Amino acid sequence: MRIPVVVKVGAFAVLVMAAYSGFANSIPQIESKPPQELSLEGGNVTPAQLVKAGEEIYKTKGTCEICHRIGQKGTRAPDLAGIGARAGKTKPGMSAKAYILESLLQPQAYVVEGYPPIMPAVDKPPIALNRSEVWALVAFLESLGGTVDVTLNDIPATVGAGGAGGAAAEIKVPGDPKAGKAVFMGKGTCLACHKAGDIPGAPVGPDLSQIAKIQTPDYIMKKILDPKGSGTVANFPPGVMPQDFGTRLSAKEYVDLVAFLLTLK
Ligand code: HEC
Ligand code: HEC
Repeated sequence: MRIPVVVKVGAFAVLVMAAYSGFANSIPQIESKPPQELSLEGGNVTPAQLVKAGEEIYKTKGTCEICHRIGQKGTRAPDLAGIGARAGKTKPGMSAKAYILESLLQPQAYVVEGYPPIMPAVDKPPIALNRSEVWALVAFLESLGGTVDVTLNDIPATVGAGGAGGAAAEIKVPGDPKAGKAVFMGKGTCLACHKAGDIPGAPVGPDLSQIAKIQTPDYIMKKILDPKGSGTVANFPPGVMPQDFGTRLSAKEYVDLVAFLLTLK
């Protein structure tokens, strides 16, 4: 890792590190309680501190590890090892820094070959990182094989605005999660292919135990009705999830099921 530039910004409080490091050991079952907000605006922070803070966010609040692994293929998202180096070559004329930032804020602007366009924007719910956190995350990703040159000014001031903590913007679905759980285990036959929290389903499809932490309600609702049209989760077989839930489930069963899935975090 090369860190040539001294980054001057952001009140970097030692307590920030303390707030995050407590969550570092909770992988892969990521701690449910959202960690404190990280604020780096208004003081000094060294690139090394920034990278460390970004790594903690990657492992905890960012929930990145539920989909990505560093140095490990075969997961539902690209291996991020060396991303700091290859990011500068992915889109002609785009710097590593700009590509990494775009990957986080507008994941659909460039979709890595072989993967579906299912990564949520990290500054929106459910991940909902704030501007400082996105800044630290870019520094961490740059450090994976590249040069840490991101400054707070590179992160648009609008990032994270309105999504504070995620909770405020959380969507309430009018269903009954308890009834939805029964649909999951019964008529929906979801457990034939999915594990979900304390429901020990078969591993034909992805473990849904933390689906509400990594996916938007929109995606979850659409996936049940139109699995193919939602993109196939990488490293799982395409066309296996039944396409006919829209006709097999009643409207109430569907809404209850969605309400249940949104409790999985
Ligand atoms: C729901 C699963 C999911 C989550 C959660 C997720 N990602 Fe992704 N990510 C993907 C997928 C799938 C792709 C590939 C498709 C694409 O390019 O959009 C991707 C692509 C990327 C890329 C571009 C990789 C490349 O090789 O060009 C970066 C960088 C990235 N993610 C970083 C992150 C970070 C950092 C987090 C945590 C804040 C995160 N992702 C959370 C699924 C996810
Ligand atoms: C016959 C097996 C099968 C059944 C039954 C099934 N699924 Fe799936 N499901 C899969 C497979 C395989 C995938 C991953 C491939 C894909 O994306 O289509 C998947 C993917 C998903 C995803 C996306 C997960 C992610 O990480 O993005 C959701 C959500 C989901 N299923 C919900 C359900 C629900 C809810 C039910 C019950 C109504 C259900 N599935 C029934 C096989 C199944």
